[in-house]
Amino acid sequence: MSEPVDPSVLFFDSGIGGLSVVKEARIILPGLRYVFVADDAAFPYGAWEEPALLDRLVDLFGRLIETFRPGMIVIACNTASTLAIDRLRVVFPDQVFVGTVPAIKPAAERTRSGLVSVLATPGTVRRQYTRDLISQFAARCHVRLVGSENLAELAETYMQTGFVDEEAVRREIAPCFVEENGRRTDIVVLACTHYPFLANRMRKTAPWPVDWIDTSEAIARRALALAEGMEFAHRDDRRPDIAVFTSDDPRTEVMRLVSGFGLSTVPYSA
Ligand code: DGL
Repeated sequence: MSEPVDPSVLFFDSGIGGLSVVKEARIILPGLRYVFVADDAAFPYGAWEEPALLDRLVDLFGRLIETFRPGMIVIACNTASTLAIDRLRVVFPDQVFVGTVPAIKPAAERTRSGLVSVLATPGTVRRQYTRDLISQFAARCHVRLVGSENLAELAETYMQTGFVDEEAVRREIAPCFVEENGRRTDIVVLACTHYPFLANRMRKTAPWPVDWIDTSEAIARRALALAEGMEFAHRDDRRPDIAVFTSDDPRTEVMRLVSGFGLSTVPYSA
């Protein structure tokens, strides 16, 4: 019989957007130790070339797995998942991974106009993985891929300071809205974990109401479903929930924010 695994779940993102998934997971997946890792030294991932980012991710996950030995890893980042999830599963076959990929299938099932937009980082928009999801699940829809240069950054600023430049949000989301033969886009997929934090501003600055698909809860539910089939060792309450930043130099506002999610920032040692 296999040994019980460490009762910890590691959430990973390039920045603090992955907290949108942590927030949902906290509700439905209590009792495990939370380790949040932000690769902020390399933020934003959206601008990286694929081979360099893939190498970085494989190397970084090797060290994170070695250091934290998490029972489960949730890659709370579309830009990383769409590039690296298949490779990571091959390189670390004993590790349980939950990925985050654009919610193209649910969007295609739900749209009435047939016009769907996927709002993501330029990296996620370029991925073959994303294109394959469209041909597999949304061949009968008109899917517009909108790569946003600035939204992840705008979300980071908002989360840290409470300030958001609404005009900039309006500009970034504008290409999502298509009118064609009397039909209009009726669904926008939020395919970056930073974006749910700006959802209210997006609603406010959108030219017409649409259904915004946020996958945070679905990812947390997937983690729960996998966790139910796993055997975790007993959690030692003396090991706190932590946040780790690869820059090892997070801003005070960031540390304050993560502490609101019950996470204490500790030095990066992986
Ligand atoms: N939060 C990340 C995602 O879900 C990406 C942000 C970035 O690094 O550009 O795609």
